[in-house]
Amino acid sequence: YVIGIDLGTSAVKTLLVGRDGAVHAEATREYPLHHDKAGWSEQEPEDWVAGTIGALGDLIASSGVAPADIEGLSFSGQMHGLVLLDERNKPVRRAILWNDTRTTEQCREIERTLGDALLNVTRNPALEGFTLPKILWVKRQEPEAYAQASRFVLPKDYVRLRLTGELHMDLSDAAGTLMLDVARRGWSTEVLEAFGIPHAFCPPLVEAGACVGTLSADAALSTGLAQSTKVFAGGADNACGAIGAGILSPGLTLCSIGTSGVVLTYEQDASADYRGKVHFFNHGKENAFYAMGVTLAAGYSLSWFRNTFAKGESYDAMLAGVDGIPAGSNGLLFSPYIVGERTPHADAQIRGSFIGIDGSHTRGHFARAVMEGITFSLNESIELFRAAGKTVDKIVSIGGGAKNPLWLQMQADIFKADVVALENEQGPGLGAAMLAAVGCGWFPTLDACGEVFVKHNRVYRPDEKTSSRYAELFGVYRQVYGQTAGINH
Ligand code: XUL
Repeated sequence: YVIGIDLGTSAVKTLLVGRDGAVHAEATREYPLHHDKAGWSEQEPEDWVAGTIGALGDLIASSGVAPADIEGLSFSGQMHGLVLLDERNKPVRRAILWNDTRTTEQCREIERTLGDALLNVTRNPALEGFTLPKILWVKRQEPEAYAQASRFVLPKDYVRLRLTGELHMDLSDAAGTLMLDVARRGWSTEVLEAFGIPHAFCPPLVEAGACVGTLSADAALSTGLAQSTKVFAGGADNACGAIGAGILSPGLTLCSIGTSGVVLTYEQDASADYRGKVHFFNHGKENAFYAMGVTLAAGYSLSWFRNTFAKGESYDAMLAGVDGIPAGSNGLLFSPYIVGERTPHADAQIRGSFIGIDGSHTRGHFARAVMEGITFSLNESIELFRAAGKTVDKIVSIGGGAKNPLWLQMQADIFKADVVALENEQGPGLGAAMLAAVGCGWFPTLDACGEVFVKHNRVYRPDEKTSSRYAELFGVYRQVYGQTAGINH
């Protein structure tokens, strides 16, 4: 067996996986988020460690598997979160998370200081969620804490450090710091020097699949795992999500509709140039990359709609009959900017809208329009990929959006691509388990592992007539942003 540990934002989820890719047991522990001020989002690194140890203990106990039969483990981690460590590797303050937005001023400073190097070297725009702006914020606002800090790590690196005593960062997670030269796969001296950050501040870089050691005696004791359990570095949650969905070769694209939505496309090398319009990060597969667009309120738009207009109803009840409403919701259009938008507008102020309301519209029309609007927003990322010369004709769909056949068909029609769901989808934790499975020598490559672990379900193909109707509406959808930006700016 191997274990995949998915260190998420609200909980850590662990999976015990066998050689055939089947999940034998899972265990989850939640931990709190701290929002002390508007826009702040922090977590206590100790909570991640206690949660992970607790979940691993539950996992072993519930599975009945002998610890000696568990060969290795690896991680998927929430990206970008800043953990500052002192000389003895103790956190000097709480972690500042990816969804914390206090660093707008630091982002502007990074843009001014780096100029073209920002996109040329880091391949990404300066966004509040990324790590470098957080380091600059602490340096400016909490000089005492900064003075104590000897190095920084990302969330899952801290948990791995506590389980093994070894300090590393993998390339897929380092790509989200804005300090990595993404194409050259090393820390950027240019960026570090521009902000007076010493090289020693940045942990040694490894591949996501690298073996970084075994468990410490203490960690073995507290988790119940054998001390000989091999530990593999692991990757960023989006990279592990891609691995777990088999996005391991050119021509494959992932669409994940969770709270937020992600469209991610495999990149064999770093030659594609999206000029920062989408994220460009190192993959968890060696030497590969991925480009990614994000819709901030994807599933969140539908859960907002349900909580507001169908409180107490299940999604199934709320969506009953919606498949009978024609594509385009009889002229009702929704833009899902209810918490701002990332791709393609990178605009935290914009807000959503319903337009085209007719006296005959029912709640079902509104619900369908919300699903269509979310999918239009994701299609903006797909169109960006296509405009840069990528072929997007096969999309693996995961998350809540993949649980509903109507939504899967809608994705195929709006994306103008074949859309396939997975059998028994497990998310990023399975990607982490795959890194461990390959590391333990079960398979020669991640691709070979994917052939056994990732099973495709039914394919949804675009219907020509519906697709062209959606293409017309998408043209209108694209104008909504510009026409409504004035309301909230
Ligand atoms: C990616 C991002 C989120 C986090 C969530 O840029 O901010 O997807 O990785 O954990």
